[in-house]
This record gives sequence, structure tokens and C-alpha cells, in this order.
Amino acid sequence: MDYSTILFEKCKDYGIITLNRPDKLNALNNQLFVELDHLLHQIELDETIKALILTGSGEKAFAAGADIKELHQSDNRSGKQFSEFGSNVMLRLEMLNIPVIAAVNGFALGGGCELALSCHIRFASENAKFGQPEVNLGIIPGYGGTQRLAKLIGKAKAMELILTGNIINAEEAYRTGLVNAIYPLNELMQKTMDFVQLILSKGTIAVSAAVDCINKSDILSHREGLVYESSKFGEVCGTEDFKEGTSAFIEKRKAEFKGK
Ligand code: COA
Repeated sequence: MDYSTILFEKCKDYGIITLNRPDKLNALNNQLFVELDHLLHQIELDETIKALILTGSGEKAFAAGADIKELHQSDNRSGKQFSEFGSNVMLRLEMLNIPVIAAVNGFALGGGCELALSCHIRFASENAKFGQPEVNLGIIPGYGGTQRLAKLIGKAKAMELILTGNIINAEEAYRTGLVNAIYPLNELMQKTMDFVQLILSKGTIAVSAAVDCINKSDILSHREGLVYESSKFGEVCGTEDFKEGTSAFIEKRKAEFKGK
């Protein structure tokens, strides 16, 4: 499939997805979701991709939300489908068993904020702005914002942002726990790639198992989650990386993980 609204670059062992509608501040239209869904499916099948970065093209926006011109046509039925499709694509992203990091390079509003929330970790540029302004359009967040934002920053703060539609800057996003770190815009991608390299220097089977277990905490009960964790723990104890990591500790040397 040829992509017209996103770019995909494969670095050595990780991928970078760039939302690519800069003249529309990377607003998320149906075509973009179709392409993103297709690409995520390819990534699921590609075992050589060990981490993923998501960012927006241009210097102004990560994504300024769902495409309001497309959304404007919606009625009850198509509105539900509109929400379900985008929501499913974001769930697919969130449930990848590799670390997914958003490099938020400007506006992350509405669906753009929800897309960032679907990533596992968020880094923001100093000019980044976050918000769920849907109430200004007479709607509510439709791609998981009511659920993920409340889990991430707490119910009261999520209520405040979603009910007022207020936009917050990177500093406030950092204070509330919405983003993990803030960098100058011209350093954001390098810092994000450095972070990915740091993660990938660890045993990638263990990294993947940890992502999987943490993701399961959203789905399983506490008890089921603990059982799942123990089974994954047993699995990673059977890897060469485990033998290498523990041997390196005992031999007082740096571990050389092979991802096996
Ligand atoms: N959907 C569709 N198009 C959008 C968009 C969106 N969510 N956000 C921005 N755009 C388009 C604008 O229509 C404009 O296109 P045009 O030049 O063809 O008119 C272009 O992107 C640039 O946006 P503009 O509004 O001119 O930039 P700005 O710097 O003045 O304002 C924002 C930036 C983000 C404050 C403003 O674009 C905005 O409020 N966007 C909507 C945010 C929103 O409500 N998102 C939730 C959607 S559910």
C-alpha cells in the first residue's frame, strides 16, 4: 500500500512513523487511519522492529485532532463508526508488544492528544500544547481520551481538561504526568532516538515482555495480571539473554544481549 498521509522510516532496529499532513496540522482523517492501521499490521508482522517512534511533520503540530471537515458530515450512526475506527487503530498501536514513544512536536489536540496517549511514553517539545477541546465542537473525545487521560493524570484533572477544553503547555503537561520529559524542538527527535537506543541496549525479549505485561494491566484483573506476569517471567528465564545478563553481573562485565 502506498501511503500519502504518513511516512515510515525503518532505522536499524526501530521504526519512525511521521504523520504527514503538515498543511492541515497533521489532522487525522480517514485516509490517515486506514494507512496507519495497515502500517501497524505490517509492524506487528516484522520481528526486526523492536521499538517505534511516532511524531508529526513540520514544526507546529504532532496532530491537531480528528479532521473536523470530515467529522462535520457525521450523524449518530457514522459518528459511532468514526469513533470506533480511530479508537481501534489507537488500541492496535497501544497493544504493540514493543515500546512506542510519541515525540510530540507541537499541538496535540483532541485526537492528536489521544494518539499521544495511546503511545507508551511521551516526550514533548517546549512548544507542545495538549488538550481535549472537543466540547468546543459539541462532542466528546472519541478515541479513548476519556479513558486513557483519566488513568494517566487522574480523574479530576482529566475532568478539568475534558470539560473545559482548556489547552495546556508542555510544562503543565509535564507537571500532571502527561509527558515524561520536555526538550527543545530541535533536540526532540535526537533525544527520543537516544532513549530508544538505551531501551534497545537491554535484552529486547525482556523489554517486549515488560511492555506486554504492563499493557495487560489495563485488561486483566489484578490477580490475573500477577499470574500473567509470573508466566512471562518464566518465559524470559528460558532465554539466552537471561543467561547473559546474569552471567555478566556475576563476572562484573557489561552484558551483550542478543535478543535470543
Ligand atoms: N481538522 C481539520 N483541519 C484542521 C484541523 C482539524 N482538527 N486543525 C487544523 N486544521 C487545518 C486548518 O483548517 C487550516 O487549514 P486551511 O489552511 O486549509 O484553512 C490548517 O490546518 C492550519 O490551521 P490554522 O487553524 O490556520 O492554524 P492556527 O495556527 O491558526 O491554529 C490551532 C492552530 C491548532 C489552534 C487550530 O488549527 C485549531 O484549533 N484546530 C482544531 C483543534 C481541535 O479542535 N481539535 C479537536 C478536533 S475533534
